[in-house]
Amino acid sequence: MQAKINGITMRFDLAGKAQAPVVILVHGFPFDLSLWKAQVAALKKDFRVLSYDLRGMGKSGLGPVPQPLEAYVDDLFALMDHLGLKQAAAAGLSMGGYIVLRAMQREPSRFWALALCDTRADADSDEGRLKRAAGIKAVREKGMAAFVKGMLPNLLCKQKSPAATALLKMMLSSNADGVANALAAMAARTDSTASLKDIKIPALVVTGDQDALMPPLIAKGLASKIKASQFVEIPDAGHVSNLENPVAFNKAFLAFLRKAASRT
Ligand code: MLT
Repeated sequence: MQAKINGITMRFDLAGKAQAPVVILVHGFPFDLSLWKAQVAALKKDFRVLSYDLRGMGKSGLGPVPQPLEAYVDDLFALMDHLGLKQAAAAGLSMGGYIVLRAMQREPSRFWALALCDTRADADSDEGRLKRAAGIKAVREKGMAAFVKGMLPNLLCKQKSPAATALLKMMLSSNADGVANALAAMAARTDSTASLKDIKIPALVVTGDQDALMPPLIAKGLASKIKASQFVEIPDAGHVSNLENPVAFNKAFLAFLRKAASRT
C-alpha cells in the first residue's frame, strides 16, 4: 500500500484485525519493511501491525534533501494520522530505535509501549560522525553494492544464511541518495538519554548477543535508565536480531506486547 505523506510517496503494510491494539515496526538502516516479515506473521493474530519503508529506503520516496532525523519522526506521526491511529506500541531497530525514542520524547501520549531493538539513546561520537562522512563519500563514489558489501559483516553473526540473503536484497533496494541522507541525519541526531527517565510506559530492550554495533552492554545501559523496562539478549544473533533469530525474538516480543496491552 502507498500513502502521500509529507510530500513523498510512502510504502506501508497494515496487517491484523482492525480493532486490535496497534503496533508500529520501524526498520533500521538501510533496510525496508520486509525486515519485519517474521514479526508481522507472529503478531497479526493479536495486534494491528503497521510497517513502512523509511523515506529514501525500500520503495518510499526521499523528497528534497537534506532531511534531518526529525523528518523521519514527522513521517511516523504523519503516517499514524493518515491511518487514523491515535496510539500505538512502537518498535524500532537501530536507526528505527533512534526515531522511536525521539518520537516518544516529542509526543509521549501517542505510545502505549516501546520495543528498542539493537539500538542506543546517545548521539554519535566525533569518531562516529567521521565514519558517517566516510560512508557518504563511499556510497557516492563507489555506489550501493560496494557500500553494502562493507557493511554486511557488522550486521550479522552468520554471513551465509537465508537472513544474510534477505538482508542483502533489502539493502540493495535502497538508493545512494537515501542512504547518504540517512547517514547525515543519524550523524546530526540529538541525544535522547536525558529523556529516558521520563518514559513511564512499558519498554522492552532487546539486543543480539553478538551485536557488534550495539553490544549487550550498551543495551543493558539503555534498559537501566528506563523505569518499566525489561532487557532480553537474543542468542545466536548479531545486530539484526529479529531477522537472525526470529523465534527467540518473537517469543520475547509477543510476551511483552501481550502483557503491556493487557494493562492499557
Ligand atoms: C542501523 O542498523 O539502523 C544502523 O546500524 C544504525 C547506525 O548506523 O547508527
